[in-house]
Amino acid sequence: MEQTIKYIREKIQDFQPEIGIILGSGLGDFADAFDSIKISYNDIPGFEKSAVQGHKGQLVFAEVNGKKVVMMQGRYHFYEGYSMQTVTYPVKVMKKLGVKTLIVTNAAGAVNENFTPGDLMFITDHINLMGTNPLIGKNDDTLGTRFPDMSEVYSKELIAKAEKIAADLKISYQKGVYIATTGPSYETPAEIKMFRMFGGSAVGMSTAPEAIIANYCGLKVLGISCLTNYAAGVSETPLNHQEVIETADKVKESFKTLLAEFIKEI
Ligand code: HPA
Repeated sequence: MEQTIKYIREKIQDFQPEIGIILGSGLGDFADAFDSIKISYNDIPGFEKSAVQGHKGQLVFAEVNGKKVVMMQGRYHFYEGYSMQTVTYPVKVMKKLGVKTLIVTNAAGAVNENFTPGDLMFITDHINLMGTNPLIGKNDDTLGTRFPDMSEVYSKELIAKAEKIAADLKISYQKGVYIATTGPSYETPAEIKMFRMFGGSAVGMSTAPEAIIANYCGLKVLGISCLTNYAAGVSETPLNHQEVIETADKVKESFKTLLAEFIKEI
């Protein structure tokens, strides 16, 4: 970690990010609109080498609406075979760099039958069904406690702010519980039915590990899902990644507007 921070600090000098953003599938180009310092994950000591298709795999440091932010353009997914440590390491790095607030975004399938592809959903809570936990292993007491509370992973205060901003911008939104699975296969209709009975609103293959670590180390978290498709069994059509990317692409503009405004307000 010391080497990671030293390397990044040499690149960013006295730039002091206060907000971290993880840009999910199809949402990465938010980071392209700003003057920035970019550092490839492949160059950062302590970051796993990445070769993710369609993801750039870089940290982007920029000033957005007067706030200093660090963005992850591309994330490590558990389904790619990375360990939970690798998946969540960037969040620990953000904390060490002085970040106070994390905005975590993703593409997700709509489990709630009243939700529609193209909707944005503020995550109120998650159910971690990945079968593991990023905190397994020796605890780093400098970051957080052994048995951290998870009763408010997603800040109610930040959700309220995001709701107000969305309303002001006339961007419609949903709120709900994100179910995290490992993927990479999409779910079966029976699984989706079970998730609905569990109280799940959306399903995806990321976010819970990063949010657990963020909450553990004292970051305030806002989670936004871009609902890209009906989850399995909700509609007749089979799921495919192309649809996920296409829907994310359509929602991108309102997503970017909302994100930029939220950054300004916090
Ligand atoms: N399931 C899991 N992950 C996803 C989905 C889905 O339907 N859509 C986008 N990411």
